[in-house]
Amino acid sequence: MITLTTLNKYKKEGRKFSCLTCYDAMFAKMMQNAEIDTILIGDSLGMVVQGHDSTLPVSVADMAYHTANVARSNKHALILADLPFMSYSTLNDAIANARTLMQAGAHVIKIEGGAELIGIISTLAQAGTPTCVHLGLTPQSVNVFGGYRVQGKSDEAAEKLLNDAKAVVAAGASLLVLECVPAPLAKAVTEAVDVPVIGIGAGADTDGQVLVMHDMLGVTHGRVARFVHDFLSDERNQSRSVEGAFALFHQSVIEGSYPQQQHQFN
Ligand code: KIV
Repeated sequence: MITLTTLNKYKKEGRKFSCLTCYDAMFAKMMQNAEIDTILIGDSLGMVVQGHDSTLPVSVADMAYHTANVARSNKHALILADLPFMSYSTLNDAIANARTLMQAGAHVIKIEGGAELIGIISTLAQAGTPTCVHLGLTPQSVNVFGGYRVQGKSDEAAEKLLNDAKAVVAAGASLLVLECVPAPLAKAVTEAVDVPVIGIGAGADTDGQVLVMHDMLGVTHGRVARFVHDFLSDERNQSRSVEGAFALFHQSVIEGSYPQQQHQFN
């Protein structure tokens, strides 16, 4: 079974690790068979499962329901679950809602933001709850950003993101997710912190890689982000099966053949 200790060891050894989003039992079981290292019950379920335009309508009860479904069926991966929009605006909310997700089966709670989260991170750490902090393009702030855009492009924004990363790790964060940031910035953050960093649209130098499950199976409509690769129809997935696609993703991340230059922002 993969734990935070395993991921920290992988970081020291330079062994990359895989992460996929997952929302139900059957896919969770297939991910176990494919040896996916970490699973994220992402609030992206608001879009890919519930059909909303953003992650904002997702509730703590939704997250707990899907977390429990996944956790029952996968005993291999480290399980991360998102605290949804406005469910950690106060310390009391953060504690109560993190408890709900941990009791549903999460091992780590993911929250979006930067240095403003340090009170929440240290309180949860003292209460036995590890956090993963999501930086860069944080989808819960889509209305602040005015759309889903690459973050950290200017020197000032890059410096702020690097400082935020250091501050949340100093406060006790156990993992970071970096979404849609230039690859050189993701590399600098990954080298600057001693906790594992998971990238999505952040280049090849982060310690782990995450994709939304539907995206990497080609189950999408409309514009496909440049960092997405369809592992289901990849010819290396000889069985053309879903489990084969998960295994190919895992193998590609570990051997460093995903992501490639064309998947990153510079
Ligand atoms: O909710 C989610 O699926 C995520 C990933 C995109 C990292 O936060």
